Order: sequence, then C-alpha cells, then structure tokens
Amino acid sequence: MLASRTSFLRTAAQTLRAQTLRAQRTYATSVASFHGKKNANGNYTVTLIEGDGIGIEISAAVKEIYAAAKVPIEWEPVDVTPILVDGKTTIPKDAVDSVKKNLVALKGPLATPIGKGHVSLNLTLRRTFNLFANVRPCKSVVGYKTPYENVDTVLIRENTEGEYSGIEHVVVPGVVQSIKLITKPASERVLRYAFEYAKSIGKTKVLVVHKASIMKVSDGLFLSTANELAAEYPDIELSTELIDSTCLRLVTDPAPYKEYVMVMPNLYGDILSDLSSGLIGGLGLTPSGNMGDQVSIFEAVHGSAPDIAGKGLANPTALLLSSVMMLRHMGLNDSAVKIEKAVLDTIASGPENRTGDLKGSASTKKFTEEVIKRL
Ligand SMILES: NC(=O)c1ccc[n+]([C@@H]2O[C@H](COP(=O)([O-])OP(=O)(O)OC[C@H]3O[C@@H](n4cnc5c(N)ncnc54)[C@H](O)[C@@H]3O)[C@@H](O)[C@H]2O)c1
Repeated sequence: MLASRTSFLRTAAQTLRAQTLRAQRTYATSVASFHGKKNANGNYTVTLIEGDGIGIEISAAVKEIYAAAKVPIEWEPVDVTPILVDGKTTIPKDAVDSVKKNLVALKGPLATPIGKGHVSLNLTLRRTFNLFANVRPCKSVVGYKTPYENVDTVLIRENTEGEYSGIEHVVVPGVVQSIKLITKPASERVLRYAFEYAKSIGKTKVLVVHKASIMKVSDGLFLSTANELAAEYPDIELSTELIDSTCLRLVTDPAPYKEYVMVMPNLYGDILSDLSSGLIGGLGLTPSGNMGDQVSIFEAVHGSAPDIAGKGLANPTALLLSSVMMLRHMGLNDSAVKIEKAVLDTIASGPENRTGDLKGSASTKKFTEEVIKRL
C-alpha cells in the first residue's frame, strides 16, 4: 500500500512538473492567431479529422458545401486512431505533422471509452497541440423557436488543466483522490486570451466564473490572476460571479450575458457551455474553437451520436458553424459570411429543410442540398 502511494505521489509530482513546465513555456506567447501560408495554388491546406460515428457524414456535408462555395482551401484528411507509445495514448505522427504544418484543423467528434481503455483523444489532441482556450459562442438561430430568442453568449474555457489534469489515484479501496491543478501561467494565458478576444469582437466586459468561495486556493489563484491582468486592460470592465449563480441567472434570463465574454476553469466551462447550447436548441447547433499559440482546431461540441450514426440523419450545422469560426480565424471572411448565411437561412426556411434534432424531417443529404442552393 505504502509503495503504491509513493509511486502515485511520484507520478503525480512528475505530471504536475510537466504540466507546469508546459504552461510556463508558453507564458509569454501572444494570443493565438493564424500564421498559415497559402500553397502554390493560392489555397490554404486544412487538416481534416473526420471523426467517428456521424463524423463521417457531417464531414462529407462540409466538404460538399465548401466545394460548391469555392472556398479557397484544400482538405488534408488524417487518421487519428490512437497508438500507445510507452503506455501513453498518442496521436499518429502523420496526423501530428499535418496539423503542425497546416496550423489549422477541422475535427469531427471522436468516441471515448468510459471508465477504461485509452485516454480521451480529445484531451490528447488538446495536450499535444497545447490548445489552451476553448471558445464557444452560442447565438439564437432566427427562425428556430426555443424558450429564449435573445441568447448571444461567448464562453472561454481553460482547456489544459483544472479537473482534467488526469491525476487520479485509489488511496485505499473505496477512497480515491483526484487533483485539480491550477497554475498561474495557464490561468494568465487563457485570461489574457479572453481580454484580447473581447477587444477583437467589440465587447467591453469580461466575466470570470469561479467557485473561489470553496476552492479558495485554486479558483482563488485564477481570480487573483484575472484581477492582476485587468490593470493591463483599462477599457475592459472585469466582473466575477460564482458558477452556481451564473447557472441560475443564465437559465432565468440569458439576455444580460450578451455584454460579456465569460472565462472560467476547465470543468465549469465544460458544463456551462453545454447549458448554453441547450438555450439555443442543442448541441447540433453549437460550434467551438480550440485555440493554441501555434495551431488551432475547430470542432463541433457534440459527440459521435452512435444512436443515429450511418442513418443519414445527422445535423451538420455545428461542424459547419465551427468551420465558419475557422474561416474567420484564417481571415477568409467572405467565405465565412457566405456559408454562415446559407446555413442559417436553410434552418429558418422551415422544418422540411431541418434535421430531426431540430424537429425537422430532412436527411443530412437534403439539408446539405438546401444549403448549397442558398450559397
Ligand atoms: N468533442 C468530441 O469529440 C466529443 C464530444 C462529446 C462526446 N464525444 C463522444 O461521443 C460519443 C457519444 O457521446 P454521447 O452519446 O454522450 O453524446 P452525443 O453528442 O454523441 O449525443 C447526444 C445526443 O445528441 C444527438 N446528437 C448529437 N449530435 C447530433 C447531430 N449533429 N445531429 C443530430 N443529433 C445529434 C445524438 O443522436 C444523441 O441523441 C462518446 O464516445 C463520447 O465520448 C465526443
């Protein structure tokens, strides 16, 4: 027992040291921005991870729509089936090289085994490419009725540590420990990103969501780092709110949150972003971007939907809107506007053109054709 506890402490210390070093290495880097170059054809090459389950169907829809819209990019599909190197889940080298070369990727959902098997590939991708900030905008879709019509939130989730440090251990049977890791460098990096992101989209308020009333040291560090940084951004008003309070207020009246960019530690971001998706009609509509200092990976927030995979029923909207975020990140604004408008117009055009998750009757194929008609 003592030996196992000592070995846990050693592994935990090693992991902590590695994560802290990783955070410190990127401490002074600027906010993620795109530095990719066009290839000889005048197009950008983008790595495409089609993903599992419905990933194949929704990626096919994206490719068809991009070809019809003549977007100046070429897809480079890669296989991310995990391999174990020295007992660690690892992404195949070809996939890593492709993302490192292109600096940008679009990703479908990847299935994760629960309670056993390889480490989440999504987590592995975030760690491999140091994707420190997960940006999730949620905006009501005009023409698709939900209990709220005025949702327009942006949430930034710390993506590399917190409750997702993966340091867990059975102390004795029936007693387990899980370490929530918060470092100042990683906190500063994501908070700075939030301030810069607010500036870039013309918002003047940043809201830090936390639970420092209970986790005084860990969330307390996140909060004090935010307060220190705020001095560098005199044009941005910093507010703070307890996570439970934010949940209550968001589901009571989301409208006031329009003014803020919200930023928070990992687990709170995971939960609050799904809650926000629910306010606009579900996961099938919500895009996201995982931003790193070198590369960025854009992905739908939903999973591989094994219950409908292969049936031609999946809604490609979330992946399409993620690709629109990607186009904006790459500076391809005209293509972004064109595709976003065609997608939103198709959804607003009526239930016959919407997929089942949006109370419609269209197949993935029919929805894709309708988007192409509206380009
Ligand atoms: N980012 C990711 O890659 C990611 C995210 C979440 C879950 N997952 C993985 O996906 C697998 C399945 O997870 P889950 O079932 O909990 O969540 P899920 O998001 O796959 O499915 C939840 C429900 O939403 C529906 N749904 C999801 N996306 C849809 C779409 N585009 N169109 C229509 N309906 C859609 C599904 O049919 C299902 O009823 C798991 O292995 C999980 O680990 C991956």
